[in-house]
Amino acid sequence: MADAIVFNGGARGNWKVLRQGAIKGAGLGNVAFVDRGTKGDAGASWTLSGVTSNLRYTNASEKKVLDATPSVLARPGATRAALIPITKSAAWWAMAQDERRAVLEDKSRHIAIGSDYLSAVSRQLVHCRDQVGAPFDFLTWFEFKPEDEARFDELLVKLRATPEWGFIDREVELRLEKAA
Ligand code: HEM
Repeated sequence: MADAIVFNGGARGNWKVLRQGAIKGAGLGNVAFVDRGTKGDAGASWTLSGVTSNLRYTNASEKKVLDATPSVLARPGATRAALIPITKSAAWWAMAQDERRAVLEDKSRHIAIGSDYLSAVSRQLVHCRDQVGAPFDFLTWFEFKPEDEARFDELLVKLRATPEWGFIDREVELRLEKAA
């Protein structure tokens, strides 16, 4: 079953915002904290929510690689995180499943590139495209140790240079530190 994941941006929360900004398109209102949980907060400046889901594009051999290093959140020492909400373009969604897979992996190597970072970066993909009125298609969440932040930066540079990123209309990035 899908798990509901809710991010409340505001004056309180379990993650402190170190910096935030728009990578492409409109940003989100600046907040001091993000609370990652399962419920909305009426006092929040903004709330983003979605659900975990099944894989869409990953093939069996790629899944085997991913499953060999399961993504575990809240690992000891992983006190840094990134929340990157993303919306893809109409051109992306107009393509058939096999054409989208071809851009994501055959042309962009998203899964292959990401697989090099499995030991350093824990991740969670939250889907919201099928939710009425949702401002983003995906809420991507990553956790890592402070000493692995440079590797995460390197991963972002690689992914953002791929053809897949040409289909992204809106991308916002928040860097976070686990609140005491
Ligand atoms: C830690 C390394 C990473 C790995 C191993 C990884 C792996 C994957 C995999 C396997 C999928 C496809 C899931 C499916 O089959 O449906 C996926 C999708 C996705 N990833 Fe990554 N990823 C990584 C990093 C990132 C980063 C840094 C971002 C954002 C900046 C990102 C954004 C996304 C998005 C938005 C999707 C959904 C694409 C779609 O369905 O159109 N990923 N990722």
